[in-house]
Amino acid sequence: MHHAAYVFDAYGTLFDVHAAVRRHAGEIGPDGQLLSEIWRAKQLEYSWVRTLMGSYADFWQLTEQALDFALRKVPSADPALRTKLLEAYWRLDCYPEVPAVLKALKASGAKLAILSNGSPEMLAAAVKSAALDQILDDVFSVDQVKRFKTDPSVYDMVVTNWRLYPGAVSFQSSNRWDVAGATKFGFRTVWINRTNQPDEYRDFPPGLILPSLEGLLAGV
Ligand code: LAC
Repeated sequence: MHHAAYVFDAYGTLFDVHAAVRRHAGEIGPDGQLLSEIWRAKQLEYSWVRTLMGSYADFWQLTEQALDFALRKVPSADPALRTKLLEAYWRLDCYPEVPAVLKALKASGAKLAILSNGSPEMLAAAVKSAALDQILDDVFSVDQVKRFKTDPSVYDMVVTNWRLYPGAVSFQSSNRWDVAGATKFGFRTVWINRTNQPDEYRDFPPGLILPSLEGLLAGV
């Protein structure tokens, strides 16, 4: 089905968050995957806890704090890699199908945007490094509302800025909890289940489940 607007989560959906660690896998040693998973899990935990507390710090700060924790939990990884790992976050690989799918959706006349927890600076750098800056109409950062996903004020930025009903927006995320928040808000949702995860948040189901973004083109 064709939609007027396609909105994408950034990290995990367009950009591969584990690419930072993979890029330095040789130097990190055997526990690279564990390091990457703790880093990501803590980054997200901090976003939820801070939103509940009403104590916002931007996603870059949370990314740094999460890496510091992860490096202490995984002693086999050399803490001197901190700077390199953080730098890699500014130019993460996008998933291989991303540029072609976004271009095709754009050519169909749809509006395209990112809606992300990322700080405006992080997102601008990642978008530019993946050469997506010419394709996207907007990049919405939670920094505008100082609350993280799944706070409804985050999803509301899109409909307020674009003057659309939530039901006119197709929202894509590989993060199942983000899909739950977006479904609750009223977006049409697509769960990009890249790693074949079991379903959860069953009371807020996605409209569609796809293994990658490629399936979006079936309806265009
Ligand atoms: C984002 C987080 C959820 O990009 O990865 O918003």
